[in-house]
Amino acid sequence: MQHASCRFVQITDIHYATPPHPRLDWPALKQRLPEQVRAVPLADTMLPMALEQISTQIKPDFIIYTGDQVDSGWDDAGLANLEAFRDFTSAQAASGIPIYSVYGNHDGPRERFSGVFGETVYRFIVNGCHFAVLDSGLMTEEQEEGDQEAARRGNELLSELFAAAGDAPAAVFIHFYIYPAGVPGYSFRGSAEAIELLEAHSRPVAVINGHHHSGRVSVVHGVPYYTARSFTEAPWAFCLHELSETGLVITEFTLDAHAEELREVGQWRGSEVCRFEF
Ligand SMILES: [Fe+2]
Repeated sequence: MQHASCRFVQITDIHYATPPHPRLDWPALKQRLPEQVRAVPLADTMLPMALEQISTQIKPDFIIYTGDQVDSGWDDAGLANLEAFRDFTSAQAASGIPIYSVYGNHDGPRERFSGVFGETVYRFIVNGCHFAVLDSGLMTEEQEEGDQEAARRGNELLSELFAAAGDAPAAVFIHFYIYPAGVPGYSFRGSAEAIELLEAHSRPVAVINGHHHSGRVSVVHGVPYYTARSFTEAPWAFCLHELSETGLVITEFTLDAHAEELREVGQWRGSEVCRFEF
């Protein structure tokens, strides 16, 4: 029997905004990097550079965007931002690499996001590995009712995930934290129940999220919780996750900002940041 394993790239908190923003070469990009805290106008340059490296060198089984794909899905330009992000990333990413999306608090009204990217609470299976995508809603009370319902459906889906996965490798994607629970504006509304479900499962299932741009890692009662660093702030990161029956290895790629100016495009440099053995 073939062992279940898969490799996937996580990119989070890109905060894309509708073009036109000029596409820069590496020397011009490098010069502009220190200018701002969030590199929103630089995403038109940095994202294709990253996606090219992902497509040609890393070759993952899929790419997952874990929320805040756009800087604002809310205002008049919100729909245009979401559609531009979808079209831009699908055109730039390599042929045939499946793309999955998680709903983030910047990504606009839930219905608008769903209209462009599909369901916000769903499961999928790749190479025998099981995944669940949850919807952590908004930071404000604005859509409290929708967020409570999304939390309820999310925990229902977690139970389904564990029943379907059994002892197979599995992971959960969400924009906010599951752990720690109860942090206003940062924690999933269904966290307490989600933690109980995760801890009751027969084997560790990693929770992989975004939102907190500087990233963090915790292992609590055997459950790994990994918050990836954002794409939009220094050091401009994305991650490769290698999930198998024996564990999860995470390699973080950060933009090599000291690269020689002779090259034409930016390059990301990978280093292993976590190794969880199950
Ligand atoms: Fe966020």
